[in-house]
Amino acid sequence: MATIASSPRLRRQSEDTHAVSDLLELANDFPLLSRTVRGGKPLVYLDTGATSQKPESVLAAERTFNQTHNAAVHRGAHQIAEEATEAFEAARSGVAQFVGVDFDEIVWTKNATEALNLVTHGFLNATLGRGGSEASRYRLTSDDEIVVTELEHHANLVPWQELAAKTGARLRWIPVTEEGRIDLEQLDVITERTRVVAFTHASNVTGAITDVPRIVERAQEVGAYTVLDACQSAAHMPVDFHELGIDFAAFSGHKMLGPTGVGVLYGRKDLLQALPPFLTGGSMVEVVTMGETTFMPPPQRFEAGTQMVAQTVGLHAAVDYLSGIGMGQLSAHEDHLAGLMLEGLSAVPGVRVLGPTGSENRLAVVAFDVSGVHPHDVGQILDDQGIAVRVGHHCAQPVHRAFGVHASTRASAGAYTTSRDIETFIDGLHKVVRFFA
Ligand code: ALA
Repeated sequence: MATIASSPRLRRQSEDTHAVSDLLELANDFPLLSRTVRGGKPLVYLDTGATSQKPESVLAAERTFNQTHNAAVHRGAHQIAEEATEAFEAARSGVAQFVGVDFDEIVWTKNATEALNLVTHGFLNATLGRGGSEASRYRLTSDDEIVVTELEHHANLVPWQELAAKTGARLRWIPVTEEGRIDLEQLDVITERTRVVAFTHASNVTGAITDVPRIVERAQEVGAYTVLDACQSAAHMPVDFHELGIDFAAFSGHKMLGPTGVGVLYGRKDLLQALPPFLTGGSMVEVVTMGETTFMPPPQRFEAGTQMVAQTVGLHAAVDYLSGIGMGQLSAHEDHLAGLMLEGLSAVPGVRVLGPTGSENRLAVVAFDVSGVHPHDVGQILDDQGIAVRVGHHCAQPVHRAFGVHASTRASAGAYTTSRDIETFIDGLHKVVRFFA
Protein backbone atom coordinates (compact mmCIF):
# COMPACT_ATOMS: atom_id res chain seq x y z
CA MET A 1 0.00 0.00 0.00
CA ALA A 2 1.44 3.35 -1.01
CA THR A 3 2.19 5.71 1.84
CA ILE A 4 0.95 9.25 1.81
CA ALA A 5 4.43 10.64 1.30
CA SER A 6 5.38 8.34 -1.57
CA SER A 7 2.16 7.96 -3.51
CA PRO A 8 2.34 9.56 -6.97
CA ARG A 9 -1.42 10.03 -6.76
CA LEU A 10 -1.13 12.49 -3.91
CA ARG A 11 -0.21 16.05 -4.70
CA ARG A 12 0.48 18.92 -2.39
CA GLN A 13 -1.52 22.00 -3.28
CA SER A 14 1.37 24.26 -2.29
CA GLU A 15 3.58 22.61 -4.94
CA ASP A 16 1.06 23.15 -7.68
CA THR A 17 0.44 26.43 -9.39
CA HIS A 18 -2.72 25.38 -11.24
CA ALA A 19 -5.81 27.03 -9.78
CA VAL A 20 -7.74 23.78 -9.58
CA SER A 21 -4.97 21.61 -8.10
CA ASP A 22 -6.04 18.76 -5.84
CA LEU A 23 -4.54 17.22 -2.76
CA LEU A 24 -5.63 13.83 -4.08
CA GLU A 25 -5.89 12.59 -7.63
CA LEU A 26 -7.40 9.15 -7.48
CA ALA A 27 -9.82 8.98 -10.41
CA ASN A 28 -7.52 6.72 -12.44
CA ASP A 29 -7.97 4.01 -9.79
CA PHE A 30 -11.70 3.87 -10.59
CA PRO A 31 -12.39 2.18 -13.95
CA LEU A 32 -15.97 3.43 -14.27
CA LEU A 33 -14.87 7.06 -14.05
CA SER A 34 -13.06 6.81 -17.40
CA ARG A 35 -16.25 6.09 -19.34
CA THR A 36 -18.24 8.56 -21.33
CA VAL A 37 -22.01 9.14 -21.27
CA ARG A 38 -24.70 10.84 -23.39
CA GLY A 39 -22.94 10.68 -26.72
CA GLY A 40 -19.30 10.83 -25.70
CA LYS A 41 -19.33 13.30 -22.80
CA PRO A 42 -16.74 12.56 -20.11
CA LEU A 43 -18.57 11.44 -16.98
CA VAL A 44 -18.59 13.81 -14.01
CA TYR A 45 -19.88 11.66 -11.18
CA LEU A 46 -21.33 13.73 -8.33
CA ASP A 47 -23.70 11.17 -6.84
CA THR A 48 -21.40 9.56 -4.29
CA GLY A 49 -23.90 10.27 -1.50
CA ALA A 50 -26.20 7.73 -3.15
CA THR A 51 -23.50 5.21 -4.00
CA SER A 52 -19.77 5.41 -4.55
CA GLN A 53 -17.69 4.06 -7.41
CA LYS A 54 -15.23 1.23 -6.67
CA PRO A 55 -11.47 1.25 -7.15
CA GLU A 56 -9.81 -1.54 -9.11
CA SER A 57 -8.47 -3.04 -5.86
CA VAL A 58 -12.03 -3.63 -4.62
CA LEU A 59 -13.15 -5.12 -7.94
CA ALA A 60 -10.04 -7.35 -7.97
CA ALA A 61 -10.50 -8.51 -4.36
CA GLU A 62 -14.06 -9.68 -5.09
CA ARG A 63 -13.02 -11.33 -8.35
CA THR A 64 -10.05 -13.13 -6.75
CA PHE A 65 -12.17 -14.33 -3.88
CA ASN A 66 -14.80 -15.73 -6.24
CA GLN A 67 -12.18 -17.30 -8.49
CA THR A 68 -10.11 -18.96 -5.77
CA HIS A 69 -11.69 -19.06 -2.30
CA ASN A 70 -15.47 -19.04 -2.71
CA ALA A 71 -17.27 -21.24 -0.16
CA ALA A 72 -19.88 -20.91 2.57
CA VAL A 73 -18.30 -19.68 5.80
CA HIS A 74 -18.35 -21.23 9.29
CA ARG A 75 -19.70 -24.50 7.85
CA GLY A 76 -17.59 -26.73 5.60
CA ALA A 77 -14.80 -29.00 6.79
CA HIS A 78 -12.80 -28.46 3.59
CA GLN A 79 -9.87 -26.22 2.78
CA ILE A 80 -11.80 -23.79 0.59
CA ALA A 81 -14.36 -23.25 3.37
CA GLU A 82 -11.50 -22.57 5.79
CA GLU A 83 -10.01 -20.01 3.40
CA ALA A 84 -13.38 -18.33 2.89
CA THR A 85 -13.96 -18.17 6.65
CA GLU A 86 -10.51 -16.66 7.18
CA ALA A 87 -11.17 -14.00 4.53
CA PHE A 88 -14.61 -13.25 6.01
CA GLU A 89 -13.26 -12.84 9.54
CA ALA A 90 -10.21 -10.89 8.36
CA ALA A 91 -12.66 -8.48 6.69
CA ARG A 92 -14.51 -8.12 9.99
CA SER A 93 -11.24 -7.27 11.76
CA GLY A 94 -10.21 -4.83 9.02
CA VAL A 95 -13.51 -2.96 9.15
CA ALA A 96 -13.47 -2.97 12.98
CA GLN A 97 -10.01 -1.41 13.00
CA PHE A 98 -11.11 1.18 10.45
CA VAL A 99 -13.86 2.48 12.75
CA GLY A 100 -11.93 2.03 16.01
CA VAL A 101 -13.76 -0.93 17.54
CA ASP A 102 -13.20 -4.63 18.36
CA PHE A 103 -13.76 -7.32 15.72
CA ASP A 104 -16.62 -8.98 17.63
CA GLU A 105 -18.49 -5.68 17.79
CA ILE A 106 -19.00 -5.74 14.01
CA VAL A 107 -22.07 -7.47 12.57
CA TRP A 108 -22.51 -7.96 8.81
CA THR A 109 -25.85 -6.96 7.38
CA LYS A 110 -27.21 -6.48 3.87
CA ASN A 111 -26.98 -2.69 4.13
CA ALA A 112 -27.25 0.13 6.69
CA THR A 113 -31.06 0.02 6.57
CA GLU A 114 -30.97 -3.61 7.68
CA ALA A 115 -28.44 -2.75 10.39
CA LEU A 116 -30.79 -0.11 11.82
CA ASN A 117 -33.75 -2.48 11.56
CA LEU A 118 -31.67 -5.06 13.44
CA VAL A 119 -31.45 -2.65 16.36
CA THR A 120 -35.13 -1.61 16.30
CA HIS A 121 -36.23 -5.26 16.03
CA GLY A 122 -33.92 -6.14 18.92
CA PHE A 123 -35.83 -3.60 21.04
CA LEU A 124 -39.14 -4.92 19.71
CA ASN A 125 -38.32 -8.57 20.35
CA ALA A 126 -37.12 -7.70 23.86
CA THR A 127 -40.41 -5.88 24.44
CA LEU A 128 -42.23 -9.03 23.30
CA GLY A 129 -40.38 -10.93 26.01
CA ARG A 130 -37.65 -12.51 23.87
CA GLY A 131 -34.02 -12.60 24.96
CA GLY A 132 -34.57 -13.46 28.62
CA SER A 133 -33.77 -11.24 31.57
CA GLU A 134 -30.60 -9.91 29.90
CA ALA A 135 -32.77 -8.27 27.21
CA SER A 136 -35.05 -6.54 29.70
CA ARG A 137 -32.87 -3.42 29.34
CA TYR A 138 -34.36 -2.99 25.85
CA ARG A 139 -38.04 -3.39 26.79
CA LEU A 140 -40.17 -0.37 25.93
CA THR A 141 -43.49 0.78 27.38
CA SER A 142 -45.84 3.65 26.69
CA ASP A 143 -43.96 5.66 29.34
CA ASP A 144 -40.82 5.56 27.21
CA GLU A 145 -39.64 7.92 24.49
CA ILE A 146 -37.53 7.40 21.40
CA VAL A 147 -35.72 10.49 20.12
CA VAL A 148 -34.63 11.01 16.51
CA THR A 149 -33.90 14.21 14.58
CA GLU A 150 -35.56 16.05 11.73
CA LEU A 151 -32.34 15.64 9.76
CA GLU A 152 -32.55 11.84 9.46
CA HIS A 153 -32.83 10.03 6.18
CA HIS A 154 -35.69 7.54 6.11
CA ALA A 155 -33.53 4.55 7.10
CA ASN A 156 -32.94 6.12 10.50
CA LEU A 157 -36.49 7.39 10.93
CA VAL A 158 -39.05 4.90 9.62
CA PRO A 159 -37.74 1.91 11.67
CA TRP A 160 -38.04 4.04 14.83
CA GLN A 161 -41.56 5.14 13.87
CA GLU A 162 -42.46 1.46 13.46
CA LEU A 163 -40.89 0.57 16.80
CA ALA A 164 -42.84 3.34 18.52
CA ALA A 165 -46.10 2.26 16.88
CA LYS A 166 -45.59 -1.38 17.88
CA THR A 167 -44.47 -0.77 21.47
CA GLY A 168 -46.55 2.29 22.40
CA ALA A 169 -43.42 4.32 23.09
CA ARG A 170 -43.59 7.97 22.03
CA LEU A 171 -41.48 9.21 19.12
CA ARG A 172 -39.99 12.66 19.58
CA TRP A 173 -37.49 14.56 17.47
CA ILE A 174 -34.89 17.30 17.68
CA PRO A 175 -35.60 19.95 15.01
CA VAL A 176 -33.11 21.30 12.49
CA THR A 177 -31.78 24.83 12.53
CA GLU A 178 -32.32 27.18 9.60
CA GLU A 179 -28.79 26.24 8.54
CA GLY A 180 -29.72 22.56 8.32
CA ARG A 181 -27.96 21.28 11.45
CA ILE A 182 -29.39 19.33 14.38
CA ASP A 183 -30.48 22.07 16.77
CA LEU A 184 -28.28 21.62 19.83
CA GLU A 185 -30.29 24.31 21.65
CA GLN A 186 -33.17 21.83 21.67
CA LEU A 187 -31.50 18.91 23.40
CA ASP A 188 -34.10 19.14 26.16
CA VAL A 189 -36.20 16.91 23.87
CA ILE A 190 -34.02 14.23 25.48
CA THR A 191 -35.49 13.64 28.95
CA GLU A 192 -35.51 11.08 31.74
CA ARG A 193 -38.10 9.21 29.65
CA THR A 194 -35.79 8.85 26.66
CA ARG A 195 -34.57 5.29 26.12
CA VAL A 196 -32.78 5.76 22.81
CA VAL A 197 -31.44 8.65 20.74
CA ALA A 198 -30.89 7.89 17.05
CA PHE A 199 -29.17 10.53 14.93
CA THR A 200 -27.07 11.07 11.87
CA HIS A 201 -23.32 11.66 11.93
CA ALA A 202 -23.55 13.70 8.72
CA SER A 203 -26.63 14.69 6.74
CA ASN A 204 -27.11 13.27 3.24
CA VAL A 205 -28.98 16.49 2.33
CA THR A 206 -27.38 19.43 4.12
CA GLY A 207 -23.94 17.86 4.50
CA ALA A 208 -23.85 19.10 8.11
CA ILE A 209 -21.57 17.12 10.42
CA THR A 210 -23.11 16.52 13.83
CA ASP A 211 -21.48 17.45 17.12
CA VAL A 212 -21.72 13.81 18.29
CA PRO A 213 -20.14 14.28 21.77
CA ARG A 214 -22.77 16.92 22.71
CA ILE A 215 -25.64 14.54 21.95
CA VAL A 216 -23.91 11.51 23.49
CA GLU A 217 -23.26 13.51 26.66
CA ARG A 218 -26.93 14.48 26.96
CA ALA A 219 -28.11 10.92 26.19
CA GLN A 220 -25.75 9.49 28.80
CA GLU A 221 -27.00 11.98 31.41
CA VAL A 222 -30.45 10.36 31.13
CA GLY A 223 -29.20 6.79 30.56
CA ALA A 224 -30.43 6.56 26.93
CA TYR A 225 -28.79 4.41 24.28
CA THR A 226 -27.25 6.18 21.28
CA VAL A 227 -27.53 4.95 17.69
CA LEU A 228 -25.45 6.72 15.04
CA ASP A 229 -26.19 6.68 11.32
CA ALA A 230 -22.68 6.81 9.88
CA CYS A 231 -23.68 6.17 6.24
CA GLN A 232 -22.37 9.51 5.01
CA SER A 233 -19.45 9.92 7.40
CA ALA A 234 -17.58 6.60 7.28
CA ALA A 235 -15.96 7.18 3.88
CA HIS A 236 -15.35 10.90 4.23
CA MET A 237 -13.74 11.63 7.60
CA PRO A 238 -11.90 9.81 10.38
CA VAL A 239 -14.42 7.82 12.45
CA ASP A 240 -13.77 6.18 15.82
CA PHE A 241 -16.90 4.82 17.48
CA HIS A 242 -15.19 3.98 20.79
CA GLU A 243 -13.85 7.50 21.04
CA LEU A 244 -17.28 8.94 20.18
CA GLY A 245 -18.81 6.82 22.98
CA ILE A 246 -21.65 5.64 20.72
CA ASP A 247 -23.61 2.47 21.60
CA PHE A 248 -24.64 1.37 18.09
CA ALA A 249 -23.75 2.63 14.62
CA ALA A 250 -24.66 1.65 11.07
CA PHE A 251 -23.08 2.19 7.67
CA SER A 252 -23.10 0.70 4.16
CA GLY A 253 -20.30 -0.81 2.09
CA HIS A 254 -21.46 0.67 -1.20
CA LYS A 255 -21.20 4.26 0.02
CA MET A 256 -17.55 3.77 1.03
CA LEU A 257 -15.99 2.48 -2.21
CA GLY A 258 -17.06 -1.09 -1.40
CA PRO A 259 -19.65 -3.43 -2.89
CA THR A 260 -23.42 -3.31 -2.61
CA GLY A 261 -25.02 -6.08 -0.54
CA VAL A 262 -22.94 -5.54 2.58
CA GLY A 263 -23.66 -3.22 5.47
CA VAL A 264 -22.27 -2.97 8.96
CA LEU A 265 -23.72 -2.68 12.42
CA TYR A 266 -21.39 -1.70 15.23
CA GLY A 267 -22.68 -2.54 18.69
CA ARG A 268 -20.89 -2.18 22.02
CA LYS A 269 -19.95 -5.70 23.12
CA ASP A 270 -22.11 -5.91 26.24
CA LEU A 271 -25.05 -4.40 24.36
CA LEU A 272 -24.89 -6.90 21.51
CA GLN A 273 -24.58 -9.65 24.11
CA ALA A 274 -27.98 -8.69 25.56
CA LEU A 275 -29.80 -7.95 22.28
CA PRO A 276 -32.24 -10.56 20.91
CA PRO A 277 -31.71 -11.49 17.25
CA PHE A 278 -33.62 -9.93 14.35
CA LEU A 279 -33.29 -12.49 11.52
CA THR A 280 -33.33 -16.12 12.61
CA GLY A 281 -32.47 -19.40 10.87
CA GLY A 282 -29.29 -21.28 10.04
CA SER A 283 -25.78 -20.23 11.10
CA MET A 284 -26.89 -18.29 14.19
CA VAL A 285 -27.95 -21.25 16.33
CA GLU A 286 -26.41 -23.54 18.94
CA VAL A 287 -29.00 -26.25 19.72
CA VAL A 288 -32.19 -26.66 17.72
CA THR A 289 -34.99 -28.99 18.82
CA MET A 290 -38.48 -29.18 17.34
CA GLY A 291 -39.72 -26.91 20.10
CA GLU A 292 -37.01 -24.31 20.61
CA THR A 293 -33.55 -23.04 19.80
CA THR A 294 -30.59 -21.53 21.59
CA PHE A 295 -28.62 -18.82 19.81
CA MET A 296 -24.91 -18.25 19.32
CA PRO A 297 -23.14 -15.29 20.93
CA PRO A 298 -22.67 -12.12 18.88
CA PRO A 299 -21.75 -11.39 16.17
CA GLN A 300 -22.91 -14.76 14.72
CA ARG A 301 -26.25 -14.42 16.53
CA PHE A 302 -27.11 -11.63 14.12
CA GLU A 303 -25.84 -13.29 10.93
CA ALA A 304 -28.53 -15.76 9.90
CA GLY A 305 -28.27 -17.67 6.62
CA THR A 306 -25.54 -17.85 4.01
CA GLN A 307 -23.40 -14.75 4.20
CA MET A 308 -22.30 -12.23 1.55
CA VAL A 309 -18.66 -13.29 1.76
CA ALA A 310 -17.26 -11.80 -1.47
CA GLN A 311 -18.83 -8.47 -0.58
CA THR A 312 -17.18 -8.42 2.86
CA VAL A 313 -13.85 -9.16 1.16
CA GLY A 314 -14.51 -6.27 -1.23
CA LEU A 315 -15.33 -3.99 1.68
CA HIS A 316 -12.09 -5.04 3.37
CA ALA A 317 -10.21 -3.93 0.25
CA ALA A 318 -12.17 -0.65 0.30
CA VAL A 319 -11.20 0.21 3.88
CA ASP A 320 -7.59 -0.76 3.10
CA TYR A 321 -7.71 1.63 0.15
CA LEU A 322 -9.15 4.44 2.29
CA SER A 323 -6.64 3.80 5.08
CA GLY A 324 -3.81 3.83 2.52
CA ILE A 325 -4.83 7.36 1.55
CA GLY A 326 -5.40 8.40 5.15
CA MET A 327 -8.78 9.65 6.31
CA GLY A 328 -7.28 12.97 7.42
CA GLN A 329 -5.92 13.60 3.89
CA LEU A 330 -9.18 12.54 2.37
CA SER A 331 -11.20 14.78 4.61
CA ALA A 332 -8.93 17.75 3.79
CA HIS A 333 -9.39 17.04 0.06
CA GLU A 334 -13.16 16.90 0.42
CA ASP A 335 -13.19 20.09 2.52
CA HIS A 336 -11.45 21.79 -0.37
CA LEU A 337 -14.09 20.44 -2.79
CA ALA A 338 -16.91 21.57 -0.48
CA GLY A 339 -15.43 25.08 -0.45
CA LEU A 340 -15.26 25.13 -4.27
CA MET A 341 -18.81 23.87 -4.61
CA LEU A 342 -20.22 26.44 -2.18
CA GLU A 343 -18.25 29.28 -3.74
CA GLY A 344 -19.36 28.24 -7.22
CA LEU A 345 -23.00 27.84 -6.22
CA SER A 346 -23.05 31.25 -4.53
CA ALA A 347 -22.43 32.84 -7.94
CA VAL A 348 -25.21 30.98 -9.78
CA PRO A 349 -28.32 33.19 -10.00
CA GLY A 350 -31.38 31.85 -8.17
CA VAL A 351 -29.57 29.06 -6.32
CA ARG A 352 -30.32 28.48 -2.64
CA VAL A 353 -28.15 25.99 -0.78
CA LEU A 354 -30.15 23.79 1.60
CA GLY A 355 -27.54 23.57 4.32
CA PRO A 356 -24.55 25.42 5.73
CA THR A 357 -23.04 27.82 3.20
CA GLY A 358 -19.60 27.74 4.82
CA SER A 359 -17.34 24.70 4.50
CA GLU A 360 -16.74 24.23 8.28
CA ASN A 361 -18.17 21.06 9.80
CA ARG A 362 -19.82 19.96 6.64
CA LEU A 363 -19.22 17.42 3.91
CA ALA A 364 -18.92 18.01 0.18
CA VAL A 365 -22.59 17.01 -0.09
CA VAL A 366 -24.59 20.02 -1.24
CA ALA A 367 -28.31 20.03 -1.95
CA PHE A 368 -29.78 23.14 -3.52
CA ASP A 369 -32.88 24.66 -5.00
CA VAL A 370 -32.86 26.56 -8.28
CA SER A 371 -35.57 29.17 -8.20
CA GLY A 372 -38.34 28.41 -10.68
CA VAL A 373 -36.73 25.24 -12.05
CA HIS A 374 -37.84 21.75 -11.00
CA PRO A 375 -34.96 19.59 -9.72
CA HIS A 376 -35.75 16.93 -12.33
CA ASP A 377 -35.18 19.51 -15.07
CA VAL A 378 -31.93 20.62 -13.41
CA GLY A 379 -30.80 16.99 -13.22
CA GLN A 380 -31.73 16.29 -16.82
CA ILE A 381 -29.88 19.24 -18.27
CA LEU A 382 -26.82 18.44 -16.16
CA ASP A 383 -27.07 14.82 -17.30
CA ASP A 384 -27.14 15.97 -20.95
CA GLN A 385 -23.71 17.46 -20.20
CA GLY A 386 -22.40 14.23 -18.62
CA ILE A 387 -22.86 15.44 -15.03
CA ALA A 388 -24.51 12.93 -12.69
CA VAL A 389 -26.28 14.36 -9.63
CA ARG A 390 -29.22 13.16 -7.56
CA VAL A 391 -32.63 14.82 -7.72
CA GLY A 392 -35.69 14.29 -5.52
CA HIS A 393 -35.97 14.14 -1.74
CA HIS A 394 -32.90 11.91 -1.25
CA CYS A 395 -34.88 9.63 1.12
CA ALA A 396 -35.18 12.56 3.53
CA GLN A 397 -38.58 14.18 3.14
CA PRO A 398 -38.81 15.84 6.60
CA VAL A 399 -35.69 17.97 6.19
CA HIS A 400 -36.89 19.09 2.75
CA ARG A 401 -40.19 20.06 4.35
CA ALA A 402 -38.24 22.05 6.96
CA PHE A 403 -36.66 24.01 4.10
CA GLY A 404 -40.09 24.52 2.52
CA VAL A 405 -39.41 22.42 -0.61
CA HIS A 406 -40.47 18.97 -1.79
CA ALA A 407 -37.27 18.13 -3.60
CA SER A 408 -33.82 19.40 -4.45
CA THR A 409 -30.79 18.73 -6.61
CA ARG A 410 -27.79 17.30 -4.81
CA ALA A 411 -24.13 17.17 -5.80
CA SER A 412 -22.02 14.90 -3.62
CA ALA A 413 -18.30 14.31 -3.91
CA GLY A 414 -16.01 11.46 -2.92
CA ALA A 415 -12.36 10.57 -2.66
CA TYR A 416 -12.00 10.47 -6.45
CA THR A 417 -13.75 13.78 -7.18
CA THR A 418 -11.52 16.52 -8.55
CA SER A 419 -11.68 20.30 -8.61
CA ARG A 420 -12.21 20.02 -12.38
CA ASP A 421 -15.36 17.98 -11.72
CA ILE A 422 -16.67 20.78 -9.53
CA GLU A 423 -15.79 23.42 -12.14
CA THR A 424 -17.59 21.44 -14.85
CA PHE A 425 -20.61 21.06 -12.59
CA ILE A 426 -20.78 24.77 -11.78
CA ASP A 427 -20.39 25.69 -15.46
CA GLY A 428 -23.12 23.17 -16.25
CA LEU A 429 -25.43 24.70 -13.67
CA HIS A 430 -24.91 28.17 -15.15
CA LYS A 431 -26.08 26.67 -18.46
CA VAL A 432 -29.19 25.26 -16.75
CA VAL A 433 -30.05 28.67 -15.34
CA ARG A 434 -29.42 30.41 -18.67
CA PHE A 435 -31.60 27.83 -20.44
CA PHE A 436 -34.55 28.55 -18.15
CA ALA A 437 -33.99 32.32 -17.93
N1 ALA B 1 -28.89 6.61 -0.39
C1 ALA B 1 -29.61 7.80 -0.11
C2 ALA B 1 -28.85 9.02 -0.57
O1 ALA B 1 -28.68 9.15 -1.73
C3 ALA B 1 -30.07 7.89 1.26
O2 ALA B 1 -28.48 9.86 0.20
